[in-house]
Amino acid sequence: MTGETRVLLIVAGGIAAYKALELIRRLREHAVKVRCILTASGAEFVTPLSLSALSEDKVYGELFSLTDEAEMGHIQLSRNAELLVVAPATANLIAKMATGQADDLASTALLATDKEVLIAPAMNVRMWEHPATRANIETLRSRGVRVVGPNEGDMACGEFGFGRMAEPDEIVTAILEALGRTRPSGNDSNGTPLTGRPSAGRPLTGRSALVTSGPTHEAIDPVRYIANRSSGRQGHAIAQALAALGARTTLVTGPTELRDPANMDVIHIESAEEMLAACEGALPVDIAVCAAAVADWRAATPSDRKIKKTGDAAYGAAEGVPRLELTANPDILARLSQRGNDRPALVVGFAAETENVILQATEKRLRKRCDWIVANDVSAQSGTFGGSDNSVHVIDEQGVDSWERMSKSDVARRLAERIADHLESPAAP
Ligand code: C5P
Repeated sequence: MTGETRVLLIVAGGIAAYKALELIRRLREHAVKVRCILTASGAEFVTPLSLSALSEDKVYGELFSLTDEAEMGHIQLSRNAELLVVAPATANLIAKMATGQADDLASTALLATDKEVLIAPAMNVRMWEHPATRANIETLRSRGVRVVGPNEGDMACGEFGFGRMAEPDEIVTAILEALGRTRPSGNDSNGTPLTGRPSAGRPLTGRSALVTSGPTHEAIDPVRYIANRSSGRQGHAIAQALAALGARTTLVTGPTELRDPANMDVIHIESAEEMLAACEGALPVDIAVCAAAVADWRAATPSDRKIKKTGDAAYGAAEGVPRLELTANPDILARLSQRGNDRPALVVGFAAETENVILQATEKRLRKRCDWIVANDVSAQSGTFGGSDNSVHVIDEQGVDSWERMSKSDVARRLAERIADHLESPAAP
């Protein structure tokens, strides 16, 4: 394996292991030489023979194989590569990495390495969301381990959510980035040189993005608040889609049940005022997408102690029922759209409407002075709020672009691609 970029690919057990075969093929196209370690459970899903055929190399599996140790010690195996990639990375192997266990060849190589490590997690959504896995991922990230994916989607176990392994293309892009290759080299499967093509599938590389997501909670007193039904799914998916296209992304989110997406800065806020401060603190950015359902009003004078049911003279309670005086929240979208020198090059807002969707959204775009408005129907019968599908119209200066009904993650991907196309066009800054 001399003279070429070398990657040690660890294939752990999981239905996504089959994607490792495609990953090897793609890496070979980029002139990356792959050597594989297949774990015992990985071997239940793919055979050493197929990995060996594609990598054109021996596949390693046993920690105490005398032949392997004589030819190539396990320490050597992990040091001979420039990068270690684990795809799929199971919850079990991630836990072993986080706690420094070394009870098979894969975990031993990962502990013995002095090279960068990139993992592509793949598991059931509940396992991914479990606090143990969240903590393990945080530990690994704090040690500099790169994490690509997982993606949201239907899972082999029949559930829906985050846990699907990133696609081979996304993993290849992350690998090339880890190897310090912003531009691929080598030939594709048709023999066409890849050198000189723009960064593979990452047209937003070098751009920065700010996304707001989720509801805001506006305190009435220390235990009560005003909120709305936003799940944050659309905003989080947009942040992920922008990051997947290479944008350095900051997600400012109100309270949701969603996990923090990997590969971005996530700022948690509660109120609209906190959201505004976090957004202004994230400037300057190239792209701002305001997908949060910001509460329009907050309590004018939130009480710093729990308002008593029996009446609280200090809070203006009459006959046991407090009067709740409201005041308007700042409009974050309008504020970002109307900033001076540090106005983002592209500001995108959302308009959740229950009637006259396009008309209302068109007016909103002009009133708030954002560049695009993504309008969606949130009437009760549409199922948009809290659901996984969305049907949207993208309104810009040119007119209305109506998209067919699709999942919120597809809306996010298409929107991110539209943003990338717009910024790549010669007229864009
Ligand atoms: O005025 P309306 O709430 O319908 O506007 C929706 C759009 O404005 C969304 O993009 C939302 O994120 C944004 N917005 C905001 N701050 C507010 C209210 C709405 O950023 N206070």
